[in-house]
Amino acid sequence: MSKLLRKQILEQGDIPNHIAIIMDGNGRWASSKNLPRISGHQEGINSVREIVQICGELEISHLTLYTFSSENWNRPKVEIKAIMKLLLRTINKEINNLNKNNVRLSIIGDLNDLPKDPQQAMIEGINKTKNNTGLNLILALSYGSRQELIMAFKRIANKVEKGKMKSEDISQEIITSELYTCDTPDPDLLIRTGGEHRISNFLLWQSAYTELYMTDSFWPDFREDQLLNAIIDYQNRQRRFGQTSEQVS
Ligand code: FPP
Repeated sequence: MSKLLRKQILEQGDIPNHIAIIMDGNGRWASSKNLPRISGHQEGINSVREIVQICGELEISHLTLYTFSSENWNRPKVEIKAIMKLLLRTINKEINNLNKNNVRLSIIGDLNDLPKDPQQAMIEGINKTKNNTGLNLILALSYGSRQELIMAFKRIANKVEKGKMKSEDISQEIITSELYTCDTPDPDLLIRTGGEHRISNFLLWQSAYTELYMTDSFWPDFREDQLLNAIIDYQNRQRRFGQTSEQVS
């Protein structure tokens, strides 16, 4: 099945440059199997590994994973602790393999909010892989898009206050340049697993013209075939960026 889907994708040729994913449904996956919620997060790591590998093989340039939102800090302490432990364990276990596969790891969000050990492991992972030229794997950690925008607006206001720029010079490019994602192209395809149809404070500015793909699959069930089907769906869209169908075809 996957071989055929891959062939179809490669023949069509329009492979998304940047895929962003809201990995939702870990808890419900676990509950449906009478397992504790953390088992869902654990199984979710297997999906992360598989999706990262396939994106690398398809030569997708950027993959952004919504790993822990600013609002996820409001979860029960015991779950937060378990997720942080899982993050630490995963990064320690996977980093050599990521490096070997030429993956370049980076983070968006406020890394300072994380406990020291996962924070340190992330920094080491980023340093270790910084010269790699394959897939850019971006983990959104303690990330909130509104918070990111506030931070950008404060920086811009500060420059205006100090006379370093004029308010009339504020443009889309200036705002983009002050975001965590300043060096990253906007996502072409945003996938959300777990059946909800919302953006949940993820890449709000960056997703202005992103194609959205929502699936009922829980994240731990989202594997190669599910990703390939999402890409095929994307390849059948017509991206018009505000123009008419006739103009773009
Ligand atoms: C959402 O499912 C998932 C999370 C908040 C955590 C996702 C984290 C991982 C899969 C670990 C990723 C690790 C790396 C290294 C990328 P949910 O708990 O909201 O599910 P629910 O909606 O069914 O309750």
